[in-house]
Amino acid sequence: QKGGWDSFMDKEIHEDPTAVADTLLGRFNPNGDLNLDEVHIEPEVFRQIDKIIIVACGTASYAGFVAKYAIEHWVRIPVEVELAHEFRYRDPILTPRTLVVAISQSGETMDTLMALRHAREQGSRVLAICNTQGSSIPRESDAVLYTHAGPEIAVASTKAFVSQVVAAYLLGLYLAQVKGTMFRDEIHQVVESLKDMPRKIQWVLDTQTQTIARAAKSLITAKSFLFLGRHVGYPVALEGALKLKEIAYTFTEGFAAGELKHGPIALVEEGEPIVVIVPSSRGRDLLHNKVISSIEEVKARGAFVIAVAEEGDPDVDRYADVVFWRPTCPTLMSPLVDVVPLQLFALEMAKDKGLDVDKPRNLAKSVTVE
Ligand code: M6R
Repeated sequence: QKGGWDSFMDKEIHEDPTAVADTLLGRFNPNGDLNLDEVHIEPEVFRQIDKIIIVACGTASYAGFVAKYAIEHWVRIPVEVELAHEFRYRDPILTPRTLVVAISQSGETMDTLMALRHAREQGSRVLAICNTQGSSIPRESDAVLYTHAGPEIAVASTKAFVSQVVAAYLLGLYLAQVKGTMFRDEIHQVVESLKDMPRKIQWVLDTQTQTIARAAKSLITAKSFLFLGRHVGYPVALEGALKLKEIAYTFTEGFAAGELKHGPIALVEEGEPIVVIVPSSRGRDLLHNKVISSIEEVKARGAFVIAVAEEGDPDVDRYADVVFWRPTCPTLMSPLVDVVPLQLFALEMAKDKGLDVDKPRNLAKSVTVE
């Protein structure tokens, strides 16, 4: 069943490219326009949506957090991301024009299920993004957009994450199409970039694995890690940190790079490993330069910097101690590749520590209690 891999997690990370490709499959008309007839929500209803609230837990919530940046940019409506277990206790503002998107791999996460029940009671529509056909969350939602990642067995979610980002992006692009907030050509261009992502993820798997394994080995005794990112790199940092906590049992904190000077920089001491997600260096825009400044700040305090960066980024080469390279891609696509080395890094670290990577202690694959 592991298809020759040492663990399910190993196998599932290597299925990231297929999970992305399969989630894109069959969702376009021959003319290239998006076709989400399968969700059975009338385009007119979609047109009326004026706010999205994404509810999810753990990795699924980070996929939602990534999607927030894209959907707000494309559709120009507010997108909130809420941990499902916090949602109904804060008296959220829900109207019939609010679309609640429940993201879940298993479809059985009780916290997410309770959140969607609350949203429906308040009169909002709920669309599930789910990987498990016929599970409770899609059954209780008004509509469902399935991710086609295939069964995910390892407790740590990997291929589900990339497929959730893709499904949420498809939803965003569809909304942009029906609301007319983007030109048709623009949408087609984004779709082309999405279709290119499986190849780019494969490149990371084919070329970066050894560097990642070496880095994990050399850092096996590290007591803690910090993960930094900005913009879409921020939720990726949170996801990378979660992976390392849950399977390598290493104390890890992820935070927004801009937050460094507001407190976390006090944690940085000689040799502290810090993983930094670096945005595209093309044009060396503000986003890129800001993250490079964060690297300079932590380097100046003796940190050991591991960067995830675009191939050939000259600034990263100058400051980072180790680099996991990714191929060039538009900023909004980068989470799909940037998460892959972080998944592999956690896997290698856990393997080196002799841990059971598929079944980490104290955790269940789906959390069916509140
Ligand atoms: O099945 P779900 O996507 O609803 O699960 C949500 C979280 O419990 C899940 O992503 C959890 O955080 C994973 N163990 C992370 O790897």
